[in-house]
Amino acid sequence: MKENITFCHVKKKYANGVMALDDIDFSVGSGVFGLLGHNGAGKTTLMKALVTVLSPSAGTIRVCGFDTRKQGNEVRKRIGYLPQELVMYPSLSVFDFVNYMAELKGIYDKKAVQEVLEQVELSAFSKRKIKQLSGGMKRRVGIAQALVGSPRILVVDEPTAGLDPEERVRFRGLLSRYAREGRTVLLSTHIVEDVHQLCGELAVLRNGRLFYAGTSAALLERVKGNIKLLHLEDENQLMELQKKAVVLQTTYENHGLTARIMDENSAFPEAASDTATLEDAYVYCMGGKAHA
Ligand SMILES: Nc1ncnc2c1ncn2[C@@H]1O[C@H](COP(=O)(O)OP(=O)(O)OP(=O)(O)O)[C@@H](O)[C@H]1O
Ligand SMILES: [Mg+2]
Repeated sequence: MKENITFCHVKKKYANGVMALDDIDFSVGSGVFGLLGHNGAGKTTLMKALVTVLSPSAGTIRVCGFDTRKQGNEVRKRIGYLPQELVMYPSLSVFDFVNYMAELKGIYDKKAVQEVLEQVELSAFSKRKIKQLSGGMKRRVGIAQALVGSPRILVVDEPTAGLDPEERVRFRGLLSRYAREGRTVLLSTHIVEDVHQLCGELAVLRNGRLFYAGTSAALLERVKGNIKLLHLEDENQLMELQKKAVVLQTTYENHGLTARIMDENSAFPEAASDTATLEDAYVYCMGGKAHA
């Protein structure tokens, strides 16, 4: 498969000494690729380095064969970027804002602006001021400005955060349609369901290090057959269990609680098995409990 993005031993140390990226090495082909990780794992830093907003301390990033440090212009031409926190101008209309962002990229084409507004279903609101939009509409304006010029690579940093379920489904549809025809969408998210629905491949960052890169099927394979359900009497038993196994989930009942665990070493052969999900695999990667 032809790779659209390659990260080659990338490191980023911020001026305050934080090692935000430590030897990140993986590549991304066409389609939607998920980037998962805790708060502070390094997702935004990796994306900023990719889109040339910041420079890595070591290593190389290539976009369609171009080096982000040496051939920044070639890279920027091929990338659309929706930052985690996009600064918008509240008094501009939707059309004027997207048109302004397009012009910054060197695209002077009002028809192209209209087209992207259609794509994100905002044509009817093109004259409305940014400050009069709902949160979900603002996210759509954000994606519209990233889509102008149909870049080969679309980099979106937590685009579905704060969206209601219906809006999220719509957003997922838009991203998966966009990823056709050899394009790449790199999507960072905390929402495993987004990755499950959209991404054939994903990477998991943990404290600046690459914990996993590959297909979601292969990640799922790691936990398959090892998910067990255990009935416990009380919290004390839960605390004991947590010393021996990764507890993925706990459900409280009238009499005690049920723990879903990752039984890697078959320490609980008697326990009932349960179907593994991508969420289990992700929580396992993160080394602990997702939610009670
Ligand atoms: N400008 C900066 N200067 C110094 N440290 C920074 C800077 N930006 C981020 N960091 C640190 O780098 C690490 C990675 O941050 P980053 O924003 O890349 O994480 P993230 O995975 O995007 O997190 P989130 O899910 O919260 O968006 C964190 O420890 C963060 O505090
Ligand atoms: Mg981030």
